[in-house]
Amino acid sequence: MKVTVSRFTPESGEWTETYDVAVLEGARILNVLDAIHDTVDATLAYRSCCRAGQCGSCAVRVNGEPVLACQKEAHDGDVIEPLNLPRIADLVTDIAPVMAQMAWLAAGNECSFVKRSEIETIKPLRECIECYSCISACPAVEASDYTGPTVMRQEQRLNLDPRDKQDRITEAINKGLFSCTTCRKCVEVCPKNIDTPKKAVEKLRELAVRRGLSLPAHRSLAKLIEETGRSVETKETSFLDQVPDVIEPEGTPTATVGFFVGCMFNLRVIQPALDAMEVLKHNGIRVIIPKTQVCCGSPLIRTGFTGFIPELQKRNIEAFQGIDTVLTICAGCGSTLKNDYETPFRVVDITEYLVENGFKKPETKVTGSFTYHDPCHLLRGQGIAEEPRTIIKSCVTDFRDMPARCCGAGGGVKSGQPEEAAKIGAKRAEMVKTTGAETIVTVCPFCEFHLQQVTGLPVKNITTLLLEAYKKED
Ligand code: FES
Repeated sequence: MKVTVSRFTPESGEWTETYDVAVLEGARILNVLDAIHDTVDATLAYRSCCRAGQCGSCAVRVNGEPVLACQKEAHDGDVIEPLNLPRIADLVTDIAPVMAQMAWLAAGNECSFVKRSEIETIKPLRECIECYSCISACPAVEASDYTGPTVMRQEQRLNLDPRDKQDRITEAINKGLFSCTTCRKCVEVCPKNIDTPKKAVEKLRELAVRRGLSLPAHRSLAKLIEETGRSVETKETSFLDQVPDVIEPEGTPTATVGFFVGCMFNLRVIQPALDAMEVLKHNGIRVIIPKTQVCCGSPLIRTGFTGFIPELQKRNIEAFQGIDTVLTICAGCGSTLKNDYETPFRVVDITEYLVENGFKKPETKVTGSFTYHDPCHLLRGQGIAEEPRTIIKSCVTDFRDMPARCCGAGGGVKSGQPEEAAKIGAKRAEMVKTTGAETIVTVCPFCEFHLQQVTGLPVKNITTLLLEAYKKED
């Protein structure tokens, strides 16, 4: 097969080489690198040790994504590059600066033992093989002084260890605890599937909050939610005040769903929520809208203010009692209701629901060029990638896809660290520009707001786009 490898020496700088090598069917990237080294160019530098996915030393990027070279199957045309870390030679990166940030056990003078139950809690955080794929892929590392996911993982691991006597909360804050956007890219690339945002970052933030070490913007937001049940201040008539308790479609309904609106769509960007109601009507779906629903709690969970969460959970579960399926149109709300609640009802994103139930395809398409931004809380929080694309392709003539990347708005970063959010957003704006699309389509009001700011382009909610196509045909 033919592969392209990024080469580098401190003297010559960077260049690329394409190699044609013979390898057996099912060869891994590491086998291909071995073949290049053994048969074509013995100067190619790369690392490996265990060759079994256990030591982490062989991590590289293949077609842009961090992988373990010894585990990833090679394909003709693959592009092999080093991790996004300082480079020593070819695919060998300098991991010493990252290692220097990793905390080590600081035992006190008294002898303490770790209980079995404590070991079980620590275990998921101990499985890291220090390949540093997460650091390479983290958008926050690139845009700020954030030391990275595995560094936070280690802080929380030691924080949970009764033998460790250091103040790991302050240490984590100093290493950028509030810089994580909770985009979950680190989980996606982790060969051991360590859920660092949930098991380390959010837990450390929770402890920071308990010590009064939170960010002022996050404190104000938490106060607003506790006082009003909403994360956005009321400026105009809300969505919930504008709509009836039940919206009936024309003719006999094909299904009934409950509708969870979320704070942004209820109070700040109301039109997409109204458009979603029209889309459901066009599809013959009856919608129940309980007026007692409140904020899902996502901004609180991501920033560490979890004290009020049980109250919000209780109120929302009560509001939707007796309803089988609850529809969300906000990626963050959907992800929270699916992953941070135990609901007696099924929660589905509107794109998931429409595709699953064979939505009505528009007969006339909307003109203009469109691209799609995957909200992190839809893509990695709910595993939804194809459904929005299916809907967009059904209603536009010119769809220009682009790879997913965090826009920087999540995890309390836009409110708490706006400069970092802007930097991450600028990177996303470059990607949007490459597509040449005139309009961005997305499924998250936070992404919508942020992308509008950083790209200067119109950003459309997916239901607004679909309704536009339906209206064209009408
Ligand atoms: Fe050890 Fe790949 S060589 S993980």
